[in-house]
Amino acid sequence: MRLAVVNLKGGTGKTTVAVYLAAALNPRGRTLLVDADPQRSALAWSETAGGFPFPVISLPTRDLHRRLPQLWEGYAHVVIDTPPGDPGIVQSALLACERALIPLNSSQNSPGAGC
Ligand SMILES: Nc1ncnc2c1ncn2[C@@H]1O[C@H](COP(=O)(O)OP(=O)(O)OP(=O)(O)O)[C@@H](O)[C@H]1O
Ligand SMILES: [Mg+2]
Repeated sequence: MRLAVVNLKGGTGKTTVAVYLAAALNPRGRTLLVDADPQRSALAWSETAGGFPFPVISLPTRDLHRRLPQLWEGYAHVVIDTPPGDPGIVQSALLACERALIPLNSSQNSPGAGC
């Protein structure tokens, strides 16, 4: 399964969801966490933790969908953490994934709230 965690709004829980999802998927099949955020939060989290039991690669580029297929060979699952406010990277992550998860703040649940 290839999943992207997206929301153009900042601070909605994307990185938290991506890291925990990768941790949950890894025991079920080799998992790659792709940190597509130039802030490198997932990578920093992994380094602070002394490494995760799955690889984390930093790839904050707008051609993810072209570059990832070579990198995800051999992985059962790929989770992509995306940045806020960069539609180019988010669009590329959406092209690369099969499913998108959109964590929302409660304030974004009201009609008309942009995400
Ligand atoms: N389910 C949750 N309940 C409460 N707090 C949460 C939850 N998920 C994440 N947080 C907290 O919300 C903050 C933002 O989380 P996180 O960094 O995952 O968001 P983000 O969408 O990746 O942010 P950014 O857009 O800056 O990349 C963090 O302090 C995190 O600990
Ligand atoms: Mg983040």
